[in-house]
Amino acid sequence: MPRGPRVIPSSALFGPSAQPTHSRLPDTFGSVNRASLEKNPHEVASMFDGVARRYDLTNTVLSLGQDRFWRRATREALRLTPADKVLDLAAGTAVSTVELATSGAWCVAADFSVGMLAAGAARDVPKVAGDATKLPFADESFDAVTISFGLRNVVDHTAGLREMARVTRSGGRLVVCEFSTPTFAPFATVYKEYLMRALPRMASAVSSNPDAYVYLAESIRAWPDQADLARRIEAAGWTNVRWRNLSGGIVALHAATKP
Ligand SMILES: C[S@@+](CC[C@H](N)C(=O)[O-])C[C@H]1O[C@@H](n2cnc3c(N)ncnc32)[C@H](O)[C@@H]1O
Repeated sequence: MPRGPRVIPSSALFGPSAQPTHSRLPDTFGSVNRASLEKNPHEVASMFDGVARRYDLTNTVLSLGQDRFWRRATREALRLTPADKVLDLAAGTAVSTVELATSGAWCVAADFSVGMLAAGAARDVPKVAGDATKLPFADESFDAVTISFGLRNVVDHTAGLREMARVTRSGGRLVVCEFSTPTFAPFATVYKEYLMRALPRMASAVSSNPDAYVYLAESIRAWPDQADLARRIEAAGWTNVRWRNLSGGIVALHAATKP
C-alpha cells in the first residue's frame, strides 16, 4: 500500500495519450514561446514544456553549480523524518524531490507541466500532474509542503500558498525556496546586470528555449523581496514566518507553520 495520498504512476502520466492539451496548441504567444510577466497558466506550462529537455543542465550552468547547495539547504530547513509525507510542489523534473527523498521521507512531485515531469521520468519518485491553485489532494494530507523556484511562476501565488496550507496538517511545515533580493546593495546592482544581460546569453548556449530565460530574468526582478514575501505568506494563512538568505540573498528560504 502506498504511504501517501493516491498518486498517478509515471507510466500512466507519460503514455502517448497523456500529452497535455496545451502542448498541442499552436504558439499563440508571438514568434517565441515565452510567457510575459502578465502570464496565464497555459503560457507558463507551455513555456516549461519547451525548456524541459535541458532544464536540469541549464539550471546547473546558470547557477554556477549553486543549485545543489540551495536544494540541500531546502531539505535541511524542512527538518524531515522518515515518517513524514511531503509535497514538492512545482517540482518540474523532480530534481528537487529526489533531494528531499534522501531524508527517508515519502515525497511526491507535483507539477502542471507534463513535459517537465516527463523529463524527470527516470527519477524514482511518485509524480502527479496538477495545478498549484487546485491541488488534487485532500485537506491536511501532508506533514510538510515545499516549493523551489516555483512560487514565482504560479500566476496567482496567493492562491497557491492557500492551497499549500489547505493540504498541510495543523503544525505542518512550509519551506519556499525562491530567488530573492541580494542584501549587499552594490552587489544587487551587479546582479541585476548579470541577470538582464548575461543570463539570457548564457542560456542560448545550453537551453532548448533561450527566450524563456529572458522571462526568468524579468520575473526575478519583479518578485517581492524577503520581507514582502514573508508578509504575503502570512496573509495566505501561515504563521511563524521567517527567512534565511542563501548566497547573499540571491536565494531566500522562507519557512512557516500551518496554524
Ligand atoms: C523553475 S521550475 C522549478 C522546478 C523544480 N522545483 C526545481 O527546483 O528545479 C518551476 C516549475 O513550476 C511549475 N509551475 C508553475 N506554475 C504552476 C502551477 N500553477 N501549478 C503547478 N506547477 C506550476 C512549472 O511547470 C515548472 O516546472
